[in-house]
Amino acid sequence: MLLSDLPTPQVLIDRVRALRNIERVQQLASSAGLRLRPHAKTHKSPIVAAWQIDRGAVGICCAKIGEAEVFVGAGIDDIRLPYPVSPSNAPRLIALMDRASISIIVDHLEVARGWSEAMRRAGRVLDVLIKVDVGFHRCGIDPEGDALGFIKAVSVMPGLRLRGLLSHAGHGYHAASEEDLAGVAEREAAILTGLRERAAGSGITLEEISVGATPTLRFSARQKGLTELRPGNYVYFDRTQVALGAATLDDCALTVLATVVSKPARDRIILDCGSKTLTSDQARGITKAAGYGAVLAGDTGNGDWAREIDEALTVERLSEEHATVRVAGGTRLEPGDRVRVLPNHSCVVSHSALPACCALTARGESLASHRDRRGAGVPNAAAALGAPPRWQGATTENRGPRRAWFARWGGNTGSI
Ligand SMILES: Cc1ncc(COP(=O)(O)O)c(C=O)c1O
Repeated sequence: MLLSDLPTPQVLIDRVRALRNIERVQQLASSAGLRLRPHAKTHKSPIVAAWQIDRGAVGICCAKIGEAEVFVGAGIDDIRLPYPVSPSNAPRLIALMDRASISIIVDHLEVARGWSEAMRRAGRVLDVLIKVDVGFHRCGIDPEGDALGFIKAVSVMPGLRLRGLLSHAGHGYHAASEEDLAGVAEREAAILTGLRERAAGSGITLEEISVGATPTLRFSARQKGLTELRPGNYVYFDRTQVALGAATLDDCALTVLATVVSKPARDRIILDCGSKTLTSDQARGITKAAGYGAVLAGDTGNGDWAREIDEALTVERLSEEHATVRVAGGTRLEPGDRVRVLPNHSCVVSHSALPACCALTARGESLASHRDRRGAGVPNAAAALGAPPRWQGATTENRGPRRAWFARWGGNTGSI
């Protein structure tokens, strides 16, 4: 099946590019002696997680217990939740601990006590890292406050095993220059390693120092004293990462295939990908990126798809199912033509539009279509989508993983 045959709007994953991103970042981490633990919130796919683990990632991160349950069901056995999970979820977390290595973060004493107590009652010990606020001002203990007091308190809680410190430099997304970004990564590492030294002075060993954000990734890999990187977005990248200098257009693996559904005026066309597909996230970055995505010029007519941004088109406004595109000068695009849109933020697009995901070959053929040609069947779709061999073909042992990926990919591509 060709892209031109797919119903739109359709989220497309370019498998070749995603694999290249995975391999490159794995290489960056490994050559710096760091463990890579990708955040799976970007793809939410057991198949993509397996691509990452098969290439050297030590495990994954999830933000939600429900996600962790799907990934554990798919056979992933090392999951970190760098999210302030409430102890009210203790029964579900304990059930996961029976099947996989699980760790969470804490940044509040009462919550930490709640977890410790729940674990003590269950006769278990939960691995935790202390989340440190390195400037994003979302979660995390204040390193300028009584951080050492917090570390000491958690280190003696009976139901917890304190593994180390963890941060997310989300403020890197607001950097105004490369130097700013480098500074964010340097300060993050300095804050964490400084705290680790202070803890060591009190006899507390913090084995892990975990950082993770795609914009600062390339700078974090140069810092001393870290043990783990947790980027998420790098698997697909997006327009924001291009604007932040973290990726090139050629690295971007997720696009939205859309159809021109109207041309009400010479300077305006309408695409069928509205806010329900592209989301209303604005691009951030060092270079300016106006609008809700970049339109890549469409089908070249030779079965190939242009990879260049059409600078004459600006996705100016979104309604739920309409993208209003302002045309500067003129465009040859007419109703019925197709384009691809590079979204501002791939994580939310892959999440909101997951049911329409498919995988691409380099030349734009839909791999999911192999499933149709070979007469349906999960094993064929698994092979076509590049699932690891253990998930291809039905066996008693792989029933759970197969079902999990089929729910995420095979089933979702059923309409193609
Ligand atoms: C705690 C945490 N770690 C890692 C990440 C991954 O960051 P990025 O999406 O910039 O790769 C996120 C993203 O939201 C996060 O919240």
